[in-house]
Amino acid sequence: MPIRRCIQLMIELDAEPRFALESLLSGGDGLDRTPRWMAYAAHLDAPVQVTLDELKALEAISPDSPGELSALSNEHGESLVLGLLEKGLLLNDSEQHARWREREQLVRDVAWWPPAAIAMTHGRWSDVDIGARNERGLMMSSQDMVDAFGSAPEAEYRRTENSETLALSKPKNSAFNELLAKRKTCRNFDPDQTISAEDLATMLHRVWGAIGTLELAPGAVAVKKNSPAGGGLHATEAYVLVQRAEGLRPGIYHYLPMRHALEPMHFSSQEDMRTLMYQCVAGQDWFQDVPVMVVMAARFDRLFWKYRRHTKAWRVVHLDVGHLSQTMYLSAADLGLGAFVTAAINDHAVEQALGLQTLKEGAIAIVGFGPRLPVNTTMELDNLTPIGIK
Ligand SMILES: Cc1cc2nc3c(=O)[nH]c(=O)nc-3n(C[C@H](O)[C@H](O)[C@H](O)COP(=O)(O)O)c2cc1C
Repeated sequence: MPIRRCIQLMIELDAEPRFALESLLSGGDGLDRTPRWMAYAAHLDAPVQVTLDELKALEAISPDSPGELSALSNEHGESLVLGLLEKGLLLNDSEQHARWREREQLVRDVAWWPPAAIAMTHGRWSDVDIGARNERGLMMSSQDMVDAFGSAPEAEYRRTENSETLALSKPKNSAFNELLAKRKTCRNFDPDQTISAEDLATMLHRVWGAIGTLELAPGAVAVKKNSPAGGGLHATEAYVLVQRAEGLRPGIYHYLPMRHALEPMHFSSQEDMRTLMYQCVAGQDWFQDVPVMVVMAARFDRLFWKYRRHTKAWRVVHLDVGHLSQTMYLSAADLGLGAFVTAAINDHAVEQALGLQTLKEGAIAIVGFGPRLPVNTTMELDNLTPIGIK
C-alpha cells in the first residue's frame, strides 16, 4: 500500500513542565521538564510528539510521490515508519486513514494560510462543560484572578507622561444613542416564552439577510447585508437552533439569505434541543433558556477563494462574525429582546450537529436572542458607575 507524507506540518519545541507519574514514584516533584518536539498538522485534532529521527524521515518522504512500506522501511526502519503512520503524519489508503485523508485533501483544496489552518483545527473544543466546572468550584472568580495574577492592566491606558489632555466637545445625542444604551448581554432568558415568528424573521433578515448583489465579474457576485464583510463575500452561514419559536418545530434550520427562508435540516424534541444548545455553548447554563441560538459558521472555501493563503484572511473571518454580532445586538435591543454572543463553544459538538466539514466550514461564534426575564438571577452589566462628560 503506497505511503506518503502529509502535505503540511509545523513543529513546536514544547518545554512546559507536565505531570509524570514516574517522577512521583522515584521521589521527584511529579513533573517532567524534558523538552519535546510536537508536530501540528491541520488534518489532526491534536499535536503528536515526534523524534528528530522521525522528522528526518518525514523530510525525506514525499507528500506527492508515495513510496512502498518495504522501501521506506529499508531506508528509515519499519517501526519508525509504522509509528508515523499511527500518528497520522504518514498517510496510506487504509480505511483507518480515511478521515485524515479527507481532511488533508481540504488542506490542499482550500487555500488556507498554514498557521491559521492549524490554529483553527487545534483550537477547537470538545466536551467543555463550564456549568459542571462551576459546580465543582473549578472556575476562577475575578477575585481569584487578581490574587493569582495581580490587578488587570488598567482600563484607560496613557501613552504620554504628564502631557495635557485635550477635552473634546460634547457628543451629539440622538435616538441612536438610546438604542446603543439598550444594547447589553443578556444572561436571563424567560424559559416560558417563545420567540414570535415576526421577531425571529426580523432578526434573521436584519442580521443575516441579503439586501442586494452586485456582479463584479461572471462568477463573482458581491453581496450586501447590514454589516460589512471582507471582500463583499459574506462567507458566514447562519444555522438556527430552535427550542421555542412560533410556527417552527424544535430542530436545526439553515437560513438562506437570498430568499429569506429557512431550510429544515433536523427535527428534534424541545428537550433534546435544550441539551444540544447547552453542549454547543460549552455548558454556559445561563444561556440555556434562550428560545433560539444562531451558530455563525464561516465558509473558508468561499472567503479564501479570494484571499488565497492570505496572512490576514483568518482575521477577516472573525471580524465578519464580530460585525454580524453587533448588528444582532442592536437589532435585538430595538425589538426589546435579550441577546448574547459567545466564542466559548464546543466546536466538535457543533460540527457534528450541523454536519460541518472541518476546514471547509467552521463555527466561529454562537449568538442567541429572545424574551428576557423581568428579574436577573445571573450577572449582567447593570448598576454601572456612570462616567459623565463635563
Ligand atoms: C467575542 C465575545 C465573546 C463573548 N463570550 C462570552 C461568553 O463566553 N460568555 C458570556 O457570558 N459572555 C460573553 N460575552 C459577553 C461579554 O461578557 C459582554 O459583552 C461584556 O461583559 C460587556 O457586557 P455588555 O455586552 O452588556 O456591554 C462575549 C462577548 C464578546 C464580544
